Amino acid sequence: MNWNPDEHYKSRAVAADYDASRFSSLSGRVFNRLEKRTVTKCFSRLPKGSTIADAPCGTGRLAGALLEAGYKVHGLDISEAMLDVARQRLGSYGKNFTCEVADLKKRPSSEPICNGALCARVLMHFSLDQQIELLTGVAQLSRSVVVINQSLDSGYQRFRRRLKRWLGNQPPARFPVSDKDIRILLEKSSLREVKRYRLLPLVSEAVYIVAEKI
Ligand SMILES: C[S@@+](CC[C@H](N)C(=O)[O-])C[C@H]1O[C@@H](n2cnc3c(N)ncnc32)[C@H](O)[C@@H]1O
Repeated sequence: MNWNPDEHYKSRAVAADYDASRFSSLSGRVFNRLEKRTVTKCFSRLPKGSTIADAPCGTGRLAGALLEAGYKVHGLDISEAMLDVARQRLGSYGKNFTCEVADLKKRPSSEPICNGALCARVLMHFSLDQQIELLTGVAQLSRSVVVINQSLDSGYQRFRRRLKRWLGNQPPARFPVSDKDIRILLEKSSLREVKRYRLLPLVSEAVYIVAEKI
């Protein structure tokens, strides 16, 4: 499969359809809500008013939850089309929401520009080496906490993935990771795990990990 996550979301049609195609079903709405609540909980150690880098920001779905919780957000994404949707959605937050086009694998900043950073729903699309490249770029944006989201690989989740394929559904993550991979990913990105949250572990592979810079 030559689906390329660096290119796919640059399409205006894909960007316009992103939220509706993933989060308008009943299960999508439940999961979206839970994810927003979890992300906010992950940053609870950061004082309100701090700036969080949402990298990648996409259409501003999770940035909206952080703004609502009282943080400022700076979004970064490789896709101008996705950021245009975010700008429209979050215009009412004025200067509390800013954004820029950036390739996170190319380390957009060598100096931290934010108090915290969020990296959601992107790592699982890349091989472990590319995940390390991308997360290193994200970690460099933050002075302290970095929150990542991944898809967990386990015997049970492999069984679910096989079942999904058999039923004709494509599993969402191309590169789910084991606990060992997570340790390698964090260590090579100069991060250390502090806490993790599983989201509906019986029906989802999703895990949110709160990490701090080493
Ligand atoms: C599935 S979306 C997730 C967006 C958002 N974090 C969310 O949870 O709704 C993946 C995003 O990653 C962005 N992306 C892919 N490769 C990237 C890269 N190398 N640098 C920055 N953004 C990238 C895409 O443009 C897309 O907006």
